[in-house]
Amino acid sequence: MSLSVRPARPSEMRHLAAVEDSGAAPFRDWFGAAAVPALLAPAVSGASRDAVPGELLVAADPAYAGTGPLGFVHLLWLDADDGSVTAHLEQLSVLLPDHGRQGIGTALVEAACEEARWAGHSSLTLCTYRDVPWNGPFYRRLGFVEDLDPPAHLERIRVAERALGLDRCGVREVLRRDLDRSSRSGSAHKLPTSEPGHRQGARPVP
Ligand SMILES: CC(C)(COP(=O)(O)OP(=O)(O)OC[C@H]1O[C@@H](n2cnc3c(N)ncnc32)[C@H](O)[C@@H]1OP(=O)(O)O)[C@@H](O)C(=O)NCCC(=O)NCCS
Repeated sequence: MSLSVRPARPSEMRHLAAVEDSGAAPFRDWFGAAAVPALLAPAVSGASRDAVPGELLVAADPAYAGTGPLGFVHLLWLDADDGSVTAHLEQLSVLLPDHGRQGIGTALVEAACEEARWAGHSSLTLCTYRDVPWNGPFYRRLGFVEDLDPPAHLERIRVAERALGLDRCGVREVLRRDLDRSSRSGSAHKLPTSEPGHRQGARPVP
C-alpha cells in the first residue's frame, strides 16, 4: 500500500458520499433494529462539505486511482461563544469493507490533528458513540479523552444530535485531543499532508 493523506482535490468531491455511505452497514449490524434513520441516511455530498469553513483530507493510493479516495476526514473550524475558532472533526470515513482495519482511519486522524495544529488550534474535538468499537474506543487509543464540560458551541451540536435521535441507540460523548507535541499518540501512521488546503465558504450549521 502506498498511501498518502492530503487535501481533497475538486475532482474527488464526488466520491466522498459513497465512502461515507459504505460505513452504514457496520452500524446497522451493531445496533440492529435500534439503529435510527439519521444514522443510516444517505451522506451529504462532498461539495456540501467543501462549502463550509474547514479542511477535507483524503487518503489516496495510486493503486486505487480509479476507485477514488479510500477514506476522508472532514475538519470544521467552528466559532466558539468566546470569539475563538475551534477545530472539530465532523466526519471520518474509510471505504468499507475492503479497506477497513489497514491503518487508514488512524492515518487520517493523525493527519487531521497535524492539520489542526498547524492551523493554530490547541485541541481537536469530536462527537461519537462511546461504546461502538470503531468509535469511542478507536479514538481513545489515539489519545482522545472525554470532554466532561463541553463549551456551548459543542453542546449545541449535541442538542442537534439528540434531536436527530442519535442518542436513542447508544451513548454519545464529546471527545477532545490536545494537540501539543507531547500529547501525540505513539502511532506510526504520521503521514503529513503534502498540499496546503485553502478552502473557505459559508458557516456550517451543526
Ligand atoms: C472508524 C473508521 C474510520 C476506522 O477506519 P480503519 O481504517 O478501519 O481504522 P484503523 O485500521 O486505523 O484502525 C482500526 C481499529 O479500529 C477498530 N475497528 C475498526 N473497525 C472495527 C470493527 N468493524 N469492529 C471492531 N473494531 C473495529 C479496531 O480497534 C481496529 O484495530 P484492529 O484492526 O487492530 O483491531 C472506519 O471503521 C469507518 O469508516 N467507520 C464508519 C464511519 C465511522 O464510524 N466513523 C467514525 C465516527 S465519526
